[in-house]
Amino acid sequence: MHRKRIKGVKHIVVVASGKGGVGKSTVAANLAIMLAKKGYKTALVDADIYGPSMPIIFGLSEAKISVYMRGEQEFMLPVEKYGVKLISLGMLADPKQAVIWRGPLAANALNMMFTNTEWGDIDYMIVDFPPGTGDIQISTLQQYKISAAIIVTTPQIIAVSDARKGADMFTPGKMNIPLLGVVENMSWFTPQNHPDEKYFIFGQGGGDALAREFNTEFLVQIPLVKDVCASSETGTNLIEAGNAIITAAFEKLAERVYLQLDEEEICDCDEEDCDEEDCDGNCAECSHKHKH
Ligand SMILES: Nc1ncnc2c1ncn2[C@@H]1O[C@H](COP(=O)(O)OP(=O)(O)OP(=O)(O)O)[C@@H](O)[C@H]1O
Ligand SMILES: [Mg+2]
Repeated sequence: MHRKRIKGVKHIVVVASGKGGVGKSTVAANLAIMLAKKGYKTALVDADIYGPSMPIIFGLSEAKISVYMRGEQEFMLPVEKYGVKLISLGMLADPKQAVIWRGPLAANALNMMFTNTEWGDIDYMIVDFPPGTGDIQISTLQQYKISAAIIVTTPQIIAVSDARKGADMFTPGKMNIPLLGVVENMSWFTPQNHPDEKYFIFGQGGGDALAREFNTEFLVQIPLVKDVCASSETGTNLIEAGNAIITAAFEKLAERVYLQLDEEEICDCDEEDCDEEDCDGNCAECSHKHKH
């Protein structure tokens, strides 16, 4: 299966779960903001075509993406906030009229977001997947070279059994995409006036169990904190909200991403010219001695 790179983009990292409402969008947004804060050129693609959350999380409900013609093709300019270049269907001027969204399949719309956006140079492109393992996810994973996937779950068993379906689509027998690890969200609640107490409202152990099952890393636990909910409702920057535990959690997650992926050498040639399936950067079509 030949998977293409997006021009200028070094790594694509998808954030997924078989289950809805576990915090995929929260994790994707704040991972992107943290990577940008660490100095990486960061992009965020809101792949949740039917329920885009990013305009709200970023406080950009009123923002509009500009579309312009380049030759015969339409291109979009991402909106930039908190250092992150963001694109979301929720920010399209008029989704009904915009010519580029006329395609019969939502996957077409997503492809336009990936390939017909003026991204510039990007170190990390984070993709916020919709819940589940539907067409959008599968067609993205089939078409693009994805460096890693992050699975989000909450600690309870029912969430894990759903999250498992999300993790399963990345395994070697299916899409064969490296799992970076598991994020457990809403792991516990600590009341503000009792900072030493932890209440395990949604049970315990789910993230760890899922990571073990898929032989991947248990990356980080994120507690249930009012600041998280409040910042996504008001569109303020959670990373700058001053919650030390939350900031530390996203710092750890971002670190796992860049420590793991920075080591990989990326070919900077235009891979669209190279159709060799397992090109090691040395094939006839590609004169660069880099890894693809
Ligand atoms: N750690 C947390 N503490 C408090 N609230 C949280 C936390 N994580 C997420 N939330 C809140 O839970 C809700 C669901 O989160 P989010 O939208 O990120 O989940 P999702 O998995 O992307 O959902 P969907 O499947 O609908 O796309 C949001 O209101 C968010 O603000
Ligand atoms: Mg979401």
